[in-house]
Amino acid sequence: MSQRNQTLGEFIIENQASFKYTSGELSRLINSIRLAAKVVNHEVNKAGLVDILGAAGDTNVQGEDQQKLDVYANEKFIQTMTNRNIVCGIASEEEDDFITINSQDENHQNKYVVLIDPLDGSSNIDVNVSVGTIFSVYRRVTPVGTPVGLEDFLQKGINQVAAGYIIYGTSTMLVYTTGDGVNGFTLNPAIGSYYLSHPNMQFPEDGRIYSVNEGNYIHFPQGIKDYIKYCQMEEGDRPYTSRYIGSLVSDFHRNMIKGGIYMYPKSSKASNGKLRLLYECNPMAFLAEQANGKASDGFTRIMEIEPTELHQRVPFICGSKNMVGKAEEFMQKSI
Ligand code: AHG
Ligand code: MN
Ligand code: MN
Repeated sequence: MSQRNQTLGEFIIENQASFKYTSGELSRLINSIRLAAKVVNHEVNKAGLVDILGAAGDTNVQGEDQQKLDVYANEKFIQTMTNRNIVCGIASEEEDDFITINSQDENHQNKYVVLIDPLDGSSNIDVNVSVGTIFSVYRRVTPVGTPVGLEDFLQKGINQVAAGYIIYGTSTMLVYTTGDGVNGFTLNPAIGSYYLSHPNMQFPEDGRIYSVNEGNYIHFPQGIKDYIKYCQMEEGDRPYTSRYIGSLVSDFHRNMIKGGIYMYPKSSKASNGKLRLLYECNPMAFLAEQANGKASDGFTRIMEIEPTELHQRVPFICGSKNMVGKAEEFMQKSI
C-alpha cells in the first residue's frame, strides 16, 4: 500500500507493534478519539447553521463562560471513551475533578488515563475560525483494578505515552505522537476516513512567525518585551511576521508547518499566564519535541515541571527550536 493512501486505521495497525506496551489498548484509545473527533467535527461544522451558539449558562472551573459546543465536545469525548471502556480515568478542562471509570472492577484492566481540552479556542466558534481538541495520555501509576487517584493525572509531561490534537479547520486533521515522531491525518468528510497527509511533521529549526497576544504587552515580563522588540528589529531575516489566531491548536499547527514561536507568558495580570499545564502545555510540548521543536516556560522545560494541581496554569513558549532558545535567552538575561 502506498503511503499516500494510507488511512489512520491502517497506520495504527501497522505501528502498533512499535508501541512500548503492545496490548492494543493504546491503539483502541486513539481509535476512540478519532471517532469522537468525527462526531464533534460534524457538530462544529454546522455551528453556523443551527442555533447552538452562545454561552450554555455554566462557567467552568476557571470561571470562564462555557459555550455550548464546549459542553457538547466534552460530553462526546468522555462518552466515547467511557462507553468503549478503554481508559480508567479522564480529566477534562471542563470538569472540576477527574472522572473514575470502572477501576474498582477487577475485570477492567485498563492502564491509561486521558487528559483533554475538548474544545480549544472556543471564543473563535461564533466567528467561524478554527478550533481544536487537545489530548494527552499517561499510564496510570496506581495499581490496575483499584480506583484511579490524583497522582495518576499529576504526572510530569515526560511520562506521556501519547498526545495529539484535532484541528477543525479548512480541513479537519488529527495530529498525534506516541513518542516516535508526529504524523498528521486529514479527514475526507465524504468517506469519513482520515488519511496520512503529513507524515513525520517537523518544526523548521528557525522560523519567521511570532504568535502572542500583543494587547497584553505592557503587562509582560521584561524578557518577553525584549524578545518581541528583537522580533520586530530590522536585522538579518528580521523583522518577523506576527500571526495570532487565539486558538492554540491553530497557532501551533501553522507554526509547526511554517516555522514560528507561540508565547503565552505570565503577566502582571495573570502570574502564571493562562494556559493549563496538563490539558494544553504538556501535550503541545510533547508534540513540539517529537517534531524537533522546543517548549519551555522561559526557564524550565515544560515536560519537566512537577504538576501540583489539575487545573494548574504555566507560562508557555513553544515552537521552532532556535526561536524558543532565543526567547529563553532574553528571559534569563532579564532577571
Ligand atoms: P480555551 O478555548 O480552551 O479556553 O483556550 C483558549 C486559549 C488558547 O487556545 C488561546 O491561544 C488562548 O487561550 C487565547 O487567549 P487570549 O484571548 O488571552 O489571547
Ligand atoms: Mn484551550
Ligand atoms: Mn477549552
